[in-house]
Amino acid sequence: MIVHRQGSAAAKRGQAFGRVPPAPLYFAVMAQETTVIERVVGSCGELVLQRRDGHYEIVANGVFLMDTRGRRSELLQVTAAADRMPPPGRMLIGGLGVGFALAAALAHPGVGEVHVLEREPAVLRWNRGRLAPLNGDALGDGRVRTHEADVVQWLAKAPAGSLDAICLDVDNGPEWLVSPGNAWLYAHEGLRTAARVLSPDGVLTIWSAARTPALVVRMHEHFTEVDVIDVSVGRGEPDVILLARVPRNSAVERSGSIAPGPTQID
Ligand SMILES: C[S@@+](CC[C@H](N)C(=O)[O-])C[C@H]1O[C@@H](n2cnc3c(N)ncnc32)[C@H](O)[C@@H]1O
Repeated sequence: MIVHRQGSAAAKRGQAFGRVPPAPLYFAVMAQETTVIERVVGSCGELVLQRRDGHYEIVANGVFLMDTRGRRSELLQVTAAADRMPPPGRMLIGGLGVGFALAAALAHPGVGEVHVLEREPAVLRWNRGRLAPLNGDALGDGRVRTHEADVVQWLAKAPAGSLDAICLDVDNGPEWLVSPGNAWLYAHEGLRTAARVLSPDGVLTIWSAARTPALVVRMHEHFTEVDVIDVSVGRGEPDVILLARVPRNSAVERSGSIAPGPTQID
C-alpha cells in the first residue's frame, strides 16, 4: 500500500511534484493503472520503481520519494548553489532520485565536477537505464563521480575544504526524514561537518517541504550568511531551499591551506 499523507510535508511535496495530485483529481488519478517496473529490497526497506500516468515514480517503504513530473525546486536548489560558489566548483549532490538536480548541475557553467552520493544501488541502476533519457544520461557525464554510499558517512570522512557546494535532498525536509540516520545532517554535528568540508566561499543548500525555523537558527551557528528561499508550487505552502554561505571557523584558511585531516575524496 502506498501512503499519501494529506496535510503532511510529504503530501505537500507530492503535490508540488505530482506525487499527490490536487484534491479533485486525487481519486481519479489514483484509479489509473500503476505498473510496477521493479521492486527491490533497499538499504532502508522496500524500494519500488513504478510507472503511472506516463511518469516514473520512486516509492520507498510505501511513501513517494520522487517522480518525474516536476522539478522546479530541485533545479533551483543546485543552480542557487552553483551561482554562488567559486567556479569551476566541486559540488556534492545527495541523493540522486530521478537525476533532475544532477542534470541541472551539469548544465550550469560554473560546475566543474559533481560527486553524486546515492545509497540505493537500484536508484543508480534506474538512472543509468530507464531514467537516463529523462535526465540526459547525467550519470554518464565525465564530470560526475558516483559514490554508492550513505551521504552521512561519506561527509563525515570527507577532507576539509574539498567541496564548493553541498546540495542535500535526501528527505522531504529535516522534519520528514526518509530514515532516522539522516537527522545527523540537520543537527549541529552535520552542519559543523558541512562547514568543515566546504571551501571558505562554499555553499550549503538543503531542500525542505516546509519552513524549518529551528534549522535556520542552527545553520546561523555554523555559517555567516543564511537565506531562506521560498519556491512557489502553485498551491499550498511553498517548497523551501535553505542556503548557507561562508562557513564559520572554516578548516581552510582563505589562503588555501588546509587543516590536518583526510586529504583525498574517495
Ligand atoms: C527526494 S530524492 C532526490 C531527488 C533529486 N533531487 C532529484 O532531482 O531527482 C532522495 C534520494 O536520496 C536518497 N537518499 C536518502 N537518504 C540517503 C542517504 N543517507 N545517503 C545517500 N542517499 C540517500 C534516496 O535513495 C533518493 O534517491
